[in-house]
Amino acid sequence: MTQTQLDESVDYLNKRGFDAPEIGIVLGTGLGQLVDNIENPVEAHYNHIPHFPLATVEFHSGKLIYGTISGKKVVVMQGRFHLYEGYDFVDITYPIRVMHLLGIKKLFVSNAAGAINLNFKKGDMMLIEDHINLQGGSPLAFKGVSEFGDRFVDMSEPYDADMRKKIEHIAQKNGISLQKGVYASVVGPQLETKAEYRMLKILGADAVGMSTVPEVIVANHLRLPIVAVSVLTDECDPDNLQPVDIQEIIAIANKTEPKMIQLFKELILEI
Ligand code: HPA
Repeated sequence: MTQTQLDESVDYLNKRGFDAPEIGIVLGTGLGQLVDNIENPVEAHYNHIPHFPLATVEFHSGKLIYGTISGKKVVVMQGRFHLYEGYDFVDITYPIRVMHLLGIKKLFVSNAAGAINLNFKKGDMMLIEDHINLQGGSPLAFKGVSEFGDRFVDMSEPYDADMRKKIEHIAQKNGISLQKGVYASVVGPQLETKAEYRMLKILGADAVGMSTVPEVIVANHLRLPIVAVSVLTDECDPDNLQPVDIQEIIAIANKTEPKMIQLFKELILEI
């Protein structure tokens, strides 16, 4: 990754009409319906944007969409890049840097995750308050990182307190239940063993998934305020573990997404 490459990606998007979006949104697995709420959408497929990693996973359509939601200019990533697809940390966070250079001032992130905290049920949403990086690396561990932002990034409060408060209030006002907790990121793509779910619980995780944390680290390095919501798609009970059904995970994410869209739309209005 070089500054010239980033500039060329941004230049391509600017020429297609991506004009100073205020908010960037990353949509997770099974969470693509939010794009139906974008007014005057302009699309750019990942594989057409210079220097973007190539999209591979079948669950994602892989495009960047610019437009307005609740009257504000947004850029939405429909589908994200994962380590388990064979990309490295720098690849998977490249789009965050591009959105930052396009001008976003805030980042919203969503994902599908497993519930480690068994007080949480599938179909619940969880506001991420903190995280544990179990992916064995960092998107900031490369030569010349300080040319792009901070190297020794403060992570004492990686998720913006003000937006967290606002989204909690929105949930309350609309009678939407929103759990809160710690998200642990793993590489995947295999799901966890019973022993691993026990370990995650002991470590203090409330949810586990295969994304988000690298994006949040880079957003902090760029000083971009973040709000992140997990849709809990399965219950990770080591004493009664059911074989995972990826189709069910996607179906539950799909079914829960309208509530997440409502939270995000109202938050866009308020910020
Ligand atoms: N583990 C890891 N990633 C996940 C899970 C899980 O149980 N559910 C959804 N994404």
